[in-house]
Amino acid sequence: MILSRFKILTAVVVVALYFLFFRSPTPPPRVAQRPRIQLTTWRDGKGLADNAKASAVLGAMAHTFKGYHEMAWGSDGVRPISGRKRDDRNGWGCFIVDSATTLALMGMWDELELSIQFIKEIDFSHPKGLVDPFETTIRYLGGLVSLVDLIDIGIVPDHVASMEDRESILQQAVALTEKLRPAYDTPTGMPYPRVNFKSNKGEPDPPVVYIKDPTKIKYDHPAIGPARAGSNILEHRALTRLTRDKSYAATSLRAWRSLVWNPLPEPFPGMVDAPMDIVTGIHVGKDRHWDAGHDSYYEYLIKEAILAPQDEHSKHYEHRWHDAALSLRANLSSRSAHAPLKNEDSYLMLHQFIGKYLDGEVVNEMSHLAHFAPGNLLLGGRWLSAPNLITFGQALLEGCRHTYNATTTGVGPEKWAWTPALSSAKGFLEKSAARYPEDLENQDHLQRTGFWVANPKYKLRPEYVESLFYAWRITGEQRYRDWAWDAFQAIDRQCRTKYGYASLADVRVEVGNDLDEKVQVQGGLIDEEESFWAGETLKYLYLIFADVRLGSLDQFVYTTEGHPLRIVD
Ligand SMILES: *[C@@H]1O[C@H](CO)[C@@H](O)[C@H](O)[C@H]1NC(C)=O
Ligand SMILES: *[C@@H]1O[C@H](CO)[C@@H](O)[C@H](O)[C@H]1NC(C)=O
Repeated sequence: MILSRFKILTAVVVVALYFLFFRSPTPPPRVAQRPRIQLTTWRDGKGLADNAKASAVLGAMAHTFKGYHEMAWGSDGVRPISGRKRDDRNGWGCFIVDSATTLALMGMWDELELSIQFIKEIDFSHPKGLVDPFETTIRYLGGLVSLVDLIDIGIVPDHVASMEDRESILQQAVALTEKLRPAYDTPTGMPYPRVNFKSNKGEPDPPVVYIKDPTKIKYDHPAIGPARAGSNILEHRALTRLTRDKSYAATSLRAWRSLVWNPLPEPFPGMVDAPMDIVTGIHVGKDRHWDAGHDSYYEYLIKEAILAPQDEHSKHYEHRWHDAALSLRANLSSRSAHAPLKNEDSYLMLHQFIGKYLDGEVVNEMSHLAHFAPGNLLLGGRWLSAPNLITFGQALLEGCRHTYNATTTGVGPEKWAWTPALSSAKGFLEKSAARYPEDLENQDHLQRTGFWVANPKYKLRPEYVESLFYAWRITGEQRYRDWAWDAFQAIDRQCRTKYGYASLADVRVEVGNDLDEKVQVQGGLIDEEESFWAGETLKYLYLIFADVRLGSLDQFVYTTEGHPLRIVD
């Protein structure tokens, strides 16, 4: 009897041990059917390339590359009017790294080959000046890992990038990321605004900006916004996938922990108060919006879920994004009125925009950076089957288009403001910091268009055409291709210079298309061309006119700098 009990006990122990140690772990449940993002039914060849327009954009890229190559090869960028060099991204050749994935998607093999040979030789341990981990991650690291992905997926032919080239590019990505590690060396995991590559330590912004408003708050430590803390997970996850080193993705999980698992009350559900102290994690400011400094955190929440739906936290990211998107609609978006509202007809001209909650009040002001929101809402709305968010995104995109269409040049401004039309929004009308404009020119602009220009520059930014790219690939509505063509023609006409494309000082000033004359126009052009012009603006324009299978949203997730990363389930 005793013996048989012992036998049973032994059997139980053996079976338990077997289950504990020998049985292979259950595989994670596979995503049954990954939701399709791009439209699936392109009738009558609508999804094919519009070759004439695609090659016009390619021509703009060739002109941009040529100007840089001739005048400033190896520096961070060329000044498009004077042809002078600029080295304000640590002098590693930012243009080359940031634009390589555009060259790959456009099939510009000679230029890409030159770029790859340059990239292999960059010495990331010796920067000019302090290194900004945010800009460096999105422009340089994103460009490198994406280039590896484009090679791996077979877009780049062997004679342009060999296996050794691919290895070197990946090693460069690793070397750079290792040097950036000290940025995240904080109690909260949120990054320092800068890293000193000599001392290998994180540093605050220069000049030290602990003091937000000298009369008010003094921060004890550097404070940052959600975008800086929460826009590295896509790049780091890709690097972890390529190297199998989990520490890169882990860095990002820590860095955005206090955002995605925010323990503090959220008056706008899903939206976090910022800036945040990187040492204590305390929210030292009370700003909430999807505009500059906050934008790409919200962008990355949904993109991370799309990139890795099987990840244990992805459902949570989806919820956070969904909450934040609904709050954006309920608490920050409004339709503009003509001021003063003249008659019922004016309602036909209402345009929807998104404002900002700044330190206690809603400000009806939006910047070009926030043009990314419609595209992101369309992407997330499609992924989560949320038609209300798709409608919201399309309405906002119409507003974005209006800011481009309402200026004389056909290019939209850096920042604008409006008076909300509907009575429900009147509560914050008086409180709004974006008050009725004082100058006559803006009053006139407001009368005609429903908004006034708060900053008239155009810095060759991509966000509007980026949203058009998502809208076109997701809905297949021809008008988005048409709007993109309008924008391209306007930018090409106004901004093209001898050595590339210049920024506009005032989108209300027509400079014409004569290369010699336009640089003489008072208040016309600015001698600046940021790397995102080639990295993003031209890439998205090209993808709008290319065959919809190129750079498909069912194959790639695009980083906030427009670098495609492979979806590998
Ligand atoms: C946000 O909008 C919702 C829906 O309109 C409203 O119930 C809520 O009070 C708003 N929150 C704040 C803090 O204004
Ligand atoms: C505005 O849109 C209309 C209709 O598509 C178009 O004819 C016009 O040229 C556009 N204006 C500008 C400045 O883009």
